[in-house]
Amino acid sequence: KILNDLHTGFVLLGEDRTCMPEHFLNYAERIKNFEVKNEDVWVASYPKTGTTWTQEMVWMIANNVDIKAGEKSLSDRFPFLELSSLGDERKLYKALNLDPSEYEPDSYEFTKDMKSPRFIKTHLPFSLLPDQFQNGSKTPKIIYVSRNPKDACVSFCHHGRLLEGWRTDLESFAKLYMADKVMYGSYWKHILGYWEKRNSLNILFIKYEEMKANLPEVIKKVAKFLEKELEEEQIELLTKHLSFESMKNNRAVNVESFVEKLRERNLCVEDGAFMRSGVVGKYKEELSPETIKKFDEWIKKNVVGTSFEQEYN
Ligand code: A3P
Repeated sequence: KILNDLHTGFVLLGEDRTCMPEHFLNYAERIKNFEVKNEDVWVASYPKTGTTWTQEMVWMIANNVDIKAGEKSLSDRFPFLELSSLGDERKLYKALNLDPSEYEPDSYEFTKDMKSPRFIKTHLPFSLLPDQFQNGSKTPKIIYVSRNPKDACVSFCHHGRLLEGWRTDLESFAKLYMADKVMYGSYWKHILGYWEKRNSLNILFIKYEEMKANLPEVIKKVAKFLEKELEEEQIELLTKHLSFESMKNNRAVNVESFVEKLRERNLCVEDGAFMRSGVVGKYKEELSPETIKKFDEWIKKNVVGTSFEQEYN
């Protein structure tokens, strides 16, 4: 109930009518005016597409695979710009009985004040990004990660049940997902919003499925984009560091300390972990054949006429 309260009330924003929690309105203007820097490195994605994995890879590449420095929490090294806009966190902290000194800082202020080069995560669609992206006056590097929407949808629902107090079942959630009625709105408008700007933005598209199939190749591609040279040994070390098992056991990235607080207070609707299964095609075991069929029709309808390519099987 308490967690659900954080997300009650949604608004439809911007030209894409993106579904966002009402609380976002308290941040929309500040985010529009957020001062972007050309030396920033941004990771943008639709939720549950491998964002955390990509952030850790990008940060490590940019920081010469400094595993020791990476022991600092990823949210401090690579903050989530609009996190505080997604719900009134003070309500959550109170529900968790935290002492005010334990409250997380406002994500917008924290990100703004980071020392350059800043590493910034966002799930915002292109249309809600700061004005300096819209008018092209700043062009920092952006790495956009995408994933098969069937897997991303299943992952999103588990995420909500574990971390946000959502009581929805997967089949009902899938319906909302295909109707663009989930936080961050339409999966397609999100991807295509960035894809259509690929010639004016400094953007590299990568895919969850290709990271699973050949991580060293993706590491090399991202290193080239970031203009970093890595030795073979560093690539090997980083590949191991980024394995699912390693990430699952790494408290700097696995969100466990937060999940523990929720678990202790019985606020998780389902048990589990943020680093849940980390495989391709898991949806086949979780979605009903009817919903998979609907997804396939939805995908077919939405990819017509676009040149964006993705693994949908
Ligand atoms: P699953 O729920 O399918 O397991 P995000 O960071 O965008 O929220 O994405 C989370 C998804 O990425 C989760 O998917 C999580 O398990 C997966 N993930 C995180 N680290 C991973 C890794 N090292 N290898 C494979 N999948 C990973």
